Amino acid sequence: MRELFKDKEHLVRMAGLFGVGLLVFVVLRGVLIPADFGDLGHYRASALDDNSSVELRFAGRAACELCHDDVAAERAKSAHRSIACEACHGALAVHADNPEAVFPERPEATPLCVACHEANVTKPAWFPTVIPDEHSEGEACDECHMPHAPGFEEVGSDG
Ligand code: HEC
Ligand code: HEC
Ligand code: HEC
Ligand code: HEC
Repeated sequence: MRELFKDKEHLVRMAGLFGVGLLVFVVLRGVLIPADFGDLGHYRASALDDNSSVELRFAGRAACELCHDDVAAERAKSAHRSIACEACHGALAVHADNPEAVFPERPEATPLCVACHEANVTKPAWFPTVIPDEHSEGEACDECHMPHAPGFEEVGSDG
């Protein structure tokens, strides 16, 4: 037995090195991991408060439709019925919270329409696309299409 451990010195040094490494790990872990980590799961519990205190920017279409029921009715049967209001109008929670204080600008139609409908090989075949220059010859898209109900059959009444 004695014979077996006669050159044990290098083992002791190695074990010491591991010991120091473990100590550094435990100390750093204690310093770096936030106190409330793991209280509720594998994350920092106070991250919930941080996130819920961020101010809402989008009101959601249900809120818009509550006040603008005329627009909701206009859209109800149109091909655009499934598009959220704020996809075109931008985030408007500030307006929905206080319509008297914040009066939103009307978005310019053409750049919006082109962004979604310009022909492009990456778009699925079922999605209606046009080549804007050929299709409208420079006219604004809302000269002929109503943004809330863009289908041709709905254009009739005002030209
Ligand atoms: C609490 C009621 C209320 C809510 C909610 C609301 N609005 Fe309004 N909105 C108004 C009022 C009132 C006006 C000013 C009068 C008007 O033109 O209808 C207005 C005006 C607008 C205008 C300008 C109209 C114009 O004539 O140029 C737009 C665009 C608009 N709202 C879009 C939205 C969108 C999109 C939402 C959802 C994010 C929304 N609103 C939520 C009440 C509301
Ligand atoms: C596809 C894009 C698009 C979507 C989706 C959309 N809008 Fe609009 N909206 C427009 C554009 C463009 C105008 C400006 C038209 C103009 O200049 O006359 C407009 C105008 C308006 C106006 C003022 C004129 C009017 O018709 O009363 C209101 C209010 C409005 N939108 C509310 C809404 C609400 C509420 C929703 C969701 C229920 C919605 N919009 C969804 C593009 C959109
Ligand atoms: C956020 C993307 C988006 C924007 C912006 C947008 N559209 Fe659309 N559009 C759609 C989707 C989605 C459909 C429905 C496709 C389907 O279900 O077949 C559609 C359908 C249409 C159709 C087919 C109507 C029908 O009855 O078949 C026309 C025309 C159209 N849009 C014109 C416009 C015009 C004009 C504008 C600008 C005012 C516009 N779109 C803005 C996404 C968009
Ligand atoms: C001079 C009037 C006019 C203008 C301006 C116009 N359109 Fe149209 N659009 C039409 C008519 C009419 C149709 C239906 C017949 C057809 O498919 O060509 C149509 C159809 C469409 C369709 C459906 C195509 C399909 O395959 O079902 C889309 C999408 C569309 N337009 C988008 C736009 C966009 C985007 C603009 C602006 C760049 C625009 N339109 C400008 C008259 C117009």
